[in-house]
Amino acid sequence: MTTDTYIAITGASTGIGRAAAQQFAAAGHNLILVARNTDALKTVRSDILATYPDLKIQVRSYDLTNMAQARALYYSLSDFNIDCWINNAGFGDYKLISDQDVNKATRMIQLNVEALTLLSMLYVKDHEQIPGTQLINVSSVGGYLMVPTCVTYSATKFYVGAFTENLALELRHKAQH
Ligand SMILES: NC(=O)c1ccc[n+]([C@@H]2O[C@H](COP(=O)([O-])OP(=O)(O)OC[C@H]3O[C@@H](n4cnc5c(N)ncnc54)[C@H](OP(=O)(O)O)[C@@H]3O)[C@@H](O)[C@H]2O)c1
Repeated sequence: MTTDTYIAITGASTGIGRAAAQQFAAAGHNLILVARNTDALKTVRSDILATYPDLKIQVRSYDLTNMAQARALYYSLSDFNIDCWINNAGFGDYKLISDQDVNKATRMIQLNVEALTLLSMLYVKDHEQIPGTQLINVSSVGGYLMVPTCVTYSATKFYVGAFTENLALELRHKAQH
């Protein structure tokens, strides 16, 4: 186990995950960047290192719609001291249910729900006793409002909110008793 601490971010190759990586880098955090696209992740890493050359940045390419790969990702990082894990990788499909591709919807549930749950559980089991560690799961406004035309996505994000907020209650309760 290294003494350096890291923030792990899934979905760090583009969008919110990449922006979060840049912000955490600016605050001095070492990073573990996860997504499928290795080249895009390496570009994020080199862009950050161009400004913050002293940071340590790991790149991991895994398809998190595959639970075996999600598990492999987590266990590949057992030597790293991860003080914050961010489940950000996710996607939506903004169509009527009748127009949605069933296979795409299945992959959405695997990524937005199954991988997030698996990685959250593995992280909490290993870190709940370590003061200062954080788990952040990225939901959406669609996780708090019923949104016809993205029913499946909205439902996955309701799950993210329910799982994460209830987990926070459970951990707070456990710490107090
Ligand atoms: N953008 C918004 O307005 C908005 C609003 C509310 C909530 N959100 C949520 O915020 C999160 C990020 O959204 P975003 O807009 O930044 O999306 P994005 O730009 O499409 O980025 C999604 C990230 O997830 C990764 N990813 C996708 N499928 C993956 C898979 N199978 N395995 C591993 N990584 C995968 C992508 O990288 P690869 O393609 O390289 O794998 C990418 O890094 C999502 O959970 C989304 O639901 C977004």
